[in-house]
Order: sequence, then C-alpha cells, then structure tokens
Amino acid sequence: MPSDEPGPDPIPNFFDPKVAACPQPTYRRMVNEEPVMHMPVTHTPVISRYEDVIHCLRNPEIFSSDMAEQMALGTDRPMIPQQIDPPAQTRYRKILDPRFSRKRIGEIEPALRESANALLDRFSESGECDYSQQYAVPLPCQAFLHLLGLPVDDLSELIHLKDGIIRPQNRAENPMDADEVASIRASSGRQIYDYFEGLIGERRSAPREDLMSYLVSVELEGEKLSHNEILDISYLFILAGLDTVTASLNCFIANLAANPENRAQILEKPENLETAIEELLRWETPVAGVPRLVTRDTEVAGTPIAKGEIVMLMLGAANIDPSEFSEADRVILDRSRNRHLAFGGGAHRCLGSHLARMELRVGLEEWHRRIPHYRIREGEVPVYSPGIRDIQSLPLVWD
Ligand code: HEM
Repeated sequence: MPSDEPGPDPIPNFFDPKVAACPQPTYRRMVNEEPVMHMPVTHTPVISRYEDVIHCLRNPEIFSSDMAEQMALGTDRPMIPQQIDPPAQTRYRKILDPRFSRKRIGEIEPALRESANALLDRFSESGECDYSQQYAVPLPCQAFLHLLGLPVDDLSELIHLKDGIIRPQNRAENPMDADEVASIRASSGRQIYDYFEGLIGERRSAPREDLMSYLVSVELEGEKLSHNEILDISYLFILAGLDTVTASLNCFIANLAANPENRAQILEKPENLETAIEELLRWETPVAGVPRLVTRDTEVAGTPIAKGEIVMLMLGAANIDPSEFSEADRVILDRSRNRHLAFGGGAHRCLGSHLARMELRVGLEEWHRRIPHYRIREGEVPVYSPGIRDIQSLPLVWD
C-alpha cells in the first residue's frame, strides 16, 4: 500500500491546499501519465520525471535561472546566487561554499542543541504546544540569525518580511487581487533592503566574526563584493534560511504524528536518524518545485517547449519516480540508495544543505528524546501552503 493518505482527486492544481497537503497522488499521475503537464490558467509546463528534471537542472544554458524579471520576488535585481547562471554564479559559490561546509556547520551543533533544549524546557511539561510556532520556527531561524550576526530580537520582524515575499497572499485582504499581492511583496522587499543597508555599513566600520562581516571583507581574485552584491546575497539568505528548515521540520513531524509506525522506527533506531531524514526529505520534498526560463526552443519527454517559456521542475514528483526509486510510493526510513532531489541539483544545488541536515537531525533528536509520543490535537487538520510546503500552525499534544 502506498504510505500516503488516499488524498484528493489527482488534479494538477498545486495551489489547492489539499494537493499541497498530500501531493503524491498528483505527482504519481504526472510521472506515469503526463511527464510534461500544463498547469491550468497559466499553462506553465511542469516537468516531473527524474531523468528530465536532472537534465534541466544540469543544462543551465537552456534552462536558465536568470529570471529576476519574470519571477520578481520583491526585488528588481537578481537574487545572488540563485537567479544568476554559471559561470558568474560559480564565482559566488566559491565565496559562499566554504562558510557552509559540513565542518564549519559542525561547529555550531552544540549551541543548536542547547537552543533546542531551552525551547523544549518552555513547554515539554505542559503536554501541548504549537510545534510550528514554538519549535520549528524559532529553532532554525535563531541559529541562522546567529550565523549571519543579526540580533535574535529582530527575528519576528524578519520573518514578517520574509512571509511578505514568500506568502503575500496570506496577508492580502483579497488574495486574488494581483496588485495588492504585488504591492505587499514589493514593500516587504524594500524593507529587507533597508534593513541590510544599515547593517552593511556597521560591519564595514566594525567587523565581527559573523557571516555579514565575511561578506563585506571577502575577496576573490583580489576583488571585493560590491554593496549591491552583498545586498542581493543577504536578501536571498533571508528567504532561504528563514523558511525551508522550518517547513521541513513541520512536514516531518506532521508525517510522524500521523504515521505511528514511522515514529516507532525513529524511536527504536535513533542511530538511523540521518537515513530517515533523507527519506523524509524525499517523500515530503518541502521545496516542491523550482522554476527555469527556457532560452531556446527545445523539447522535454517529446513535448516541445518554446524559447521564453517558464517551466516548473517538479522536484517532489521526480522524487517518487519509480524509474529511480524502488518502491517509490512507500516511505522506507532505512532506504539504502536515495539520490533524492529535495536540495535541487546541478550548479544551484542548495548552498545550505549541510546546515539544513544538521538542524533537522538535532531538532528531531532532541524533540524525540524529550517528547517521544505525541499526536496532532483532536479536531485539528494541518493546513499546508503550496510552493514551499509549510504548516503555519501545528498543535500537538502528549501525555
Ligand atoms: C531542508 C531545508 C532546505 C531545502 C529543502 C532547500 C532546498 C533548496 C533547493 C531545492 C534549492 C535549489 C534552487 C534552484 O535550483 O533554483 C536551494 C538552493 C539554495 N538554498 Fe536551500 N534548502 C534548504 C535549506 C537552506 C538553508 C538553511 C539555506 C541557508 C543558507 C539555504 C540556502 C540556499 C541558497 C543560497 C540556494 C541557492 C544556491 C545557488 O543558486 O547556487 N537553503 N535550496
């Protein structure tokens, strides 16, 4: 039996919260029947087979990330390095990669474990919490602010601004009003820039040991980053670092709360947690898809795609493609071969994957050590957002 719920009708509407909650039936239909499916209304081609998604990720000269104009996320300049193609993008990764290496990230693990326990101290005795608001948001976000060198007191303001970019509909009086949504996004973008304008100046005059100070001082081939380059990197950091790990923790705990047999395996074999996390990343794929701009007429799986079209590479669908994964429809927490695409692939593969994996491992380890048996509060149904599959409120109870 597939381990997902029977789910809604497999219609290709990823903006439907029911599909966002349980996307696997839709993914399955796409991979098996329509590997390039056109979205309703926008007609965006959605590419779903593993092999095709890998092809697009690895050929940025045809499937470009240079989409600041078409996919403006509150800014009129490209976010660095995500909206820049190689070879320029490679230069930025040379500067950034060393700061996100496994070794460097390992250094902050003890502090993160302490933070996890400080959060758990606040509610573990009470028998209930909102997992999302009281654990999945503060744990990775406080750690990321610390890494950047930003005051933890600014967290709610930065999360508010980040949500204004990623989920502006949630704040709009009329979520269907494109102008209102665009104006919330633009105003949040301006405020993020303003926030960093001041900070960059401060770090230039009084450098510290943090990532912001590194960005103002680092040189590559004798050249420093320009003011705008630092701004455009910081901007992406706020979007990437303050959302994805929270979303992943939420998706994972909701899965484990609803599937006691999966949770039992985590409790019985804590030494397998790293492997289990990879499987949950595959199955849940919190960043469900990534867009690309097609630079010349081409075809994918026999379907012509015209120059200038935006395509969506459906990472979540590729991650349940049976041609790559045996028993692709089952969650197998000790799966031995798991080349999932939850962190993307090719040149733009996630910069923060070591950080994310460490935060997920420590977050889940400490939670299960202190609160092994939990369930979603009766009557509550988690509501998933589309795109990045987050759950804003996840009330849990335990005895
Ligand atoms: C489980 C958590 C995470 C997931 C699932 C995830 C997923 C992804 C994916 C799918 C991409 C590829 C985007 C594309 O190809 O267009 C990406 C890129 C990126 N991620 Fe993550 N991410 C996570 C955590 C983080 C964290 C914590 C950071 C913090 C620094 C981060 C920073 C970035 C950056 C900067 C890029 C752009 C890399 C480039 O374009 O060269 N991510 N991430």
